Parts: sequence; structure tokens; C-alpha cells
Amino acid sequence: MQVELRVQRFDPSENDEAWWGEYVAEVEDNGRVLDALHYVKWFVDGTLGLRRSCAHGICGSDAMVINGRNRLACKVLCRDLKQPIKVEPIQGLKVEKDLIVDMDPFFAGIAAVKPWLINDSPAPAHERLQSPAERAKYDDATKCIQCAACTTACPIFWTDEEYVGPAAIVNASRFIYDSRDEGSRERLEILGSKGGAFRCRTTFNCTDACPRGIKVTERIQEVKRSILFRKM
Ligand code: FES
Repeated sequence: MQVELRVQRFDPSENDEAWWGEYVAEVEDNGRVLDALHYVKWFVDGTLGLRRSCAHGICGSDAMVINGRNRLACKVLCRDLKQPIKVEPIQGLKVEKDLIVDMDPFFAGIAAVKPWLINDSPAPAHERLQSPAERAKYDDATKCIQCAACTTACPIFWTDEEYVGPAAIVNASRFIYDSRDEGSRERLEILGSKGGAFRCRTTFNCTDACPRGIKVTERIQEVKRSILFRKM
């Protein structure tokens, strides 16, 4: 099938302002937006800049704004979209070229909440055991692929450089509720300070944007409650 695309183009080394590239791509009937962008890059204009790797919704490289909504280009079928399909870079991060943005501030927000197991107790002879019920407490948060779709859909993140963003809070919650972890107090301290969870205004944009179906707003509210009711 033929697909009409309008893609936001911007190369700061060549233009002062962004412009719209209009293309027609040939894709299979079940072709995804990523396939259409590949067609443009490989057969029409090789200068188009975009990130992708796995092409199967796992690596989180190809989050972009597709017809006004944050989506992974590899998970959206062209036939399900109104044409011309409008493709823009995710918002709130500096555009480096076309659909490629500077992800450093996004990953800095995640690193700030220490998303790794903290446990200084002597290691047991075997693994640190956990019951299925304990594992279930943080299951939702394990689905995050750090694509930035949620964080860059958040209007607070667009305007507040200090806000760590929804993805960082989800990644913190992955360990805060892990029975084997001993760093919850430290993380809740970070998320209870300026730039933390209370910057969230509960717009639900993040939950709508998540390609993994994580209940992002619910995770943030859970962390807020833990901050408020933690034992000092
Ligand atoms: S290319 Fe890996 S998630 Fe889309």
C-alpha cells in the first residue's frame, strides 16, 4: 500500500527552523510507521535522521509523535492511521536532527533516582528469596523500556528542567517496592524533594503514552503516598 507522510525535518547545521518533508512510501498492508520511515530513508532521502534498533517494541529507541500522540514507530500500523501521517520528534528534549533528540536529560533523571538494587547486607549463600506476592508488588514497573514516551508527553517535563519525569519515578518504584532492596528511604528522599514526584499534576498523559501499558500515573501516586506516609 502507499502511505503519505509529513515528517518534521530539522538540521541545525543547515537550517534555522524546522520544515515539513512530504513523502510517499510503499509498505506492506501490515506495514508500520517505522517501515514507512525506512522506505523514505532508504529509497527517497537518505538524510532523514531517526533512531531505531530492535524494530519490535523492546529497545525503546523509536518513540516519536505520530499524528499527535507519543508512540513507538515500530508498533503502529500505517493502515490504522489517518493520512498523511504526521511524524514529529518527541517534545521537551532538544532536537539534534529530524526525529533524533538529545536523550541525556531524560537518562539523567532516571539515574538520579538510583534505579538499581541497593543492598549492603552480607549476601546469603544462595539467592535472595522473594515470594510471588512480593514480586507482584513491582511487576508493572518492570515493563519499562525507557523509551521516554511517557516523560516527553508530560507538560510539566516540557517546562520544568528539574522534574525527573514519569519514567524516572516508574524506574524508582521498580526498586522501592522490591523486598530485597534497602534503598527505598534514599529514593523516597530524592523523590520527595524539589523536582520529584510532587511536580506531577496527574494529567494522565504519561499513562496514555506508555507503549507497554504501564499504569504510570498509578505508579507515581503510589510513590507520592509512600513519601507522605513513610516512617521518618
Ligand atoms: S525499534 Fe526498538 S522499540 Fe521500536
